[in-house]
Amino acid sequence: MKAAPLILGLESSCDETSAALVRGGKILGHVILSQDVHRLYGGVVPELAARAHLTVIDDVVREALQEAGVGLDNVDALAVTAGPGLIGALLVGVCWVRGAAFALGRPVVPVHHMEAHLFGPVLEDPEAEPPFVALLVSGGHTLLLHARAWGDYQLLGETRDDAAGEAYDKVAKLLGLPYPGGPSVERLSREGDPSRHRFPRPMLRSNQIPGDPDYLDVSFSGLKTAVATRVAELDQAGQLGEERAHVAAGFQAAVVDTLVSKTMRAVEMVDCRRVLVGGGVSANRGLREELRLRLGETGTLFTASTRLSLDNGAMVARAAAFHLARGQVAPDGFSADASLPFPGLERTPAVAGGVGS
Ligand code: KG4
Ligand code: ZN
Repeated sequence: MKAAPLILGLESSCDETSAALVRGGKILGHVILSQDVHRLYGGVVPELAARAHLTVIDDVVREALQEAGVGLDNVDALAVTAGPGLIGALLVGVCWVRGAAFALGRPVVPVHHMEAHLFGPVLEDPEAEPPFVALLVSGGHTLLLHARAWGDYQLLGETRDDAAGEAYDKVAKLLGLPYPGGPSVERLSREGDPSRHRFPRPMLRSNQIPGDPDYLDVSFSGLKTAVATRVAELDQAGQLGEERAHVAAGFQAAVVDTLVSKTMRAVEMVDCRRVLVGGGVSANRGLREELRLRLGETGTLFTASTRLSLDNGAMVARAAAFHLARGQVAPDGFSADASLPFPGLERTPAVAGGVGS
């Protein structure tokens, strides 16, 4: 039997430079380097991100190859995040891969960053295969999908404004916590009482019915403003110090409740109790625990370890294996696309009875 192809996957869409060698769904080598420089500015600075990728990409690939015990010329195909993301950052990975592919005479598989997040859990759990309802929550995107099969996705809901991770990052800034905000807000929230500051659950009302345009969509900008207003009031009253953890807990509760409630609506609508949560925010313990609780014993939740939930090259290589098997490789001269459309995503409105059929 012919061995599965050895794929080198590169990720450089935001502030992680990562390379992985994956063969037959197994990770042979994997290096992830997070850029620390953005902490100084409380968020990702695109120019600095691109420069930092350029500085380390050769070493990151070399180290991953070394860990896998293979040479670059053993690689059968090269995969890279082609979008969406920061254009300068994406171009570093894309140009590196194009150069290497040209020199080696190997195909390139361009990968959509959010589709790659769908492939994170299956690297650790072979059961994490479609069909499932997927909640994809990252710094730039919040998507609720019905994955009927790999490459066959139906959009059920999405954010109307800020992404979930973006809301965490902005609230962290308001509370004086370091970037990236998600982990620091979650940590602080554990010391707080979530019922002390009740924040609105965006776009979540009990009188919504399937078919309403906002039934499965989310919105986080109003919640962020509500937190900003509360922080300003507490600051003025000289109470911010003692209330910070309670504010973080109230915010975390609102986000988790919103995301989990919308996911459960999707579960009912498409009648599928297999749920996958992916993207950086899926590292949130509170979010996972609540999803598990609300799914109950009749449901299954697929998650990845924190390392594979955050941006990484292994998920890129794993997604590429799927596309490569179907002959979906890049045409000559392909480039990065900051707003690359999600491949295989059907955007039909989520109307009751019309979904999942
Ligand atoms: O997927 P990802 O690593 O990069 C993007 O594709 O954007 O997601 C990064 C986002 C950041 O906004 C970060 O604050 C958030 O994921 N994040 C979390 C947690 N860990 C990372 N949000 C909530 N709780 C966490 N534990
Ligand atoms: Zn991501």
